[in-house]
Amino acid sequence: MAKTAKRHRCIDCGSTTARWAGRCPTCGEWNTLVEEAQLGPLVQAVDALDLSSMPLPLSSVDVSEAAAVPTGVEEFDRVLSGGLVPGSVTLLGGEPGIGKSTLLLQVLAARAAAGHRVLLVSAEESAHQVRLRAERLGPIPPGLLILPVTDVGTVINAVVEAEPDLVVIDSIQAVSIGPTALGERRATGVPGSVTQVRECADQLVGLAKSRQVATVLVGHVTKDGSLAGPRALEHMVDTVLSFEGDRHHALRLLLAVKHRFGPTGELGLFEMGDQGLNRVDDPGRLLLGDRLTGVPGGVVLPAVQGRRTLMVELQALVTPMGQAQPKRSVVGLDSGRLVMTLAVLVRHAELPVLATDVFASVAGGIRVIEPAADLAVALAVASAATGVALPADLAAVGEVGLAGEVRQVTNLPRRLEESARLGFNRVVVPASSPEGPSEVELVRVNTVAEAVSRFGCAPDL
Ligand code: TYD
Ligand code: MG
Repeated sequence: MAKTAKRHRCIDCGSTTARWAGRCPTCGEWNTLVEEAQLGPLVQAVDALDLSSMPLPLSSVDVSEAAAVPTGVEEFDRVLSGGLVPGSVTLLGGEPGIGKSTLLLQVLAARAAAGHRVLLVSAEESAHQVRLRAERLGPIPPGLLILPVTDVGTVINAVVEAEPDLVVIDSIQAVSIGPTALGERRATGVPGSVTQVRECADQLVGLAKSRQVATVLVGHVTKDGSLAGPRALEHMVDTVLSFEGDRHHALRLLLAVKHRFGPTGELGLFEMGDQGLNRVDDPGRLLLGDRLTGVPGGVVLPAVQGRRTLMVELQALVTPMGQAQPKRSVVGLDSGRLVMTLAVLVRHAELPVLATDVFASVAGGIRVIEPAADLAVALAVASAATGVALPADLAAVGEVGLAGEVRQVTNLPRRLEESARLGFNRVVVPASSPEGPSEVELVRVNTVAEAVSRFGCAPDL
């Protein structure tokens, strides 16, 4: 008797047929058709699977939606390789007072001026304060909305209602999630605590993805990066930007620490002025403008920051010990590397800096932590210790090893080009360096001792 009327499924290929047959009409196997009602719960569970979450060929993934939209603030867009991607979440970290709110207000205003609706969630400053600041920055476009609240639930409602295409949360440490309508707490702790920050970010990331709204979270980070909140978010967001500089100087650096939509090498340069942040075309003017030449203790380093080369002034001061212990102090440099460089100078160049206080700094609020700064630090210290000034047109770059040897550095051609452009026609480099631009004289050195004696900064023994 033929089986009829009930749906059957082939246990081999999974296809279904309305009627039973001895052979599967799809794959041609014999005796594989089984009545669906007799299939076990496992098969039914497989049937219930959402096939949209199955693996698919990477090459078939649609990338059009990941296109960056320019914000109109050129240096900001450059660091983001084009702009903000709809639905993406960006964390902008930096020390309090560095200019995060100012930068983002300019980004919002630029986007709004281009006809988009954008929303600033101001959890730290009142609408009044923000309005006053915005007036300093230029005309306020009508599409720029402000919501001065701290409750993430209110933010979510506002985004769903107003449908902006860019939302800035200033800051993630100032917002919180209160009890739900049922009275249960979703996150414990005061605003700014790690659980609150994480839970709020989690909700806002979900909102960004579901509404396809580009979202920027502001996070305050202290100098040593120790504030747990924003650091704990880095894995949750698509992009992490760091806004750096010294509050007492005008120059600001914007760099991408993590970026899911492009490379992280770009560096944005801004200058803080009376009317907000402006792009800097010639950082040399800001960084070297006040340099004193002809005094001991200073030398210029072609430093690489992301994809840019910046000529920065390194300074050292060596003074008699003020206390029982010698003091070593740095600004904008790696203190561990200074201590190591001093040890090398003592041991291999016989420079008497063991029982002295040594201060070393990078002028202009720039941070240079690359080993390529070692040779310039060594020369600046030797010059300061001996009181012999280095030539005004001299730059130096090289890593110093523990044996006193001077080693190769990355991106030397770029460094030499920038040196030449700004008129530094003599550059101290590792002996093995390839030729640079014709106008630059390379002073090749094998060791630190050779470098310091070449410029008369070796101790009289
Ligand atoms: P702000 O954006 O409030 O910093 P953050 O949000 O990172 O805490 O900027 C703070 C500093 O910037 C403040 O000390 C004043 C200064 N500033 C200017 O110098 N010029 C300006 O046009 C603006 C708006 C701010
Ligand atoms: Mg702020």
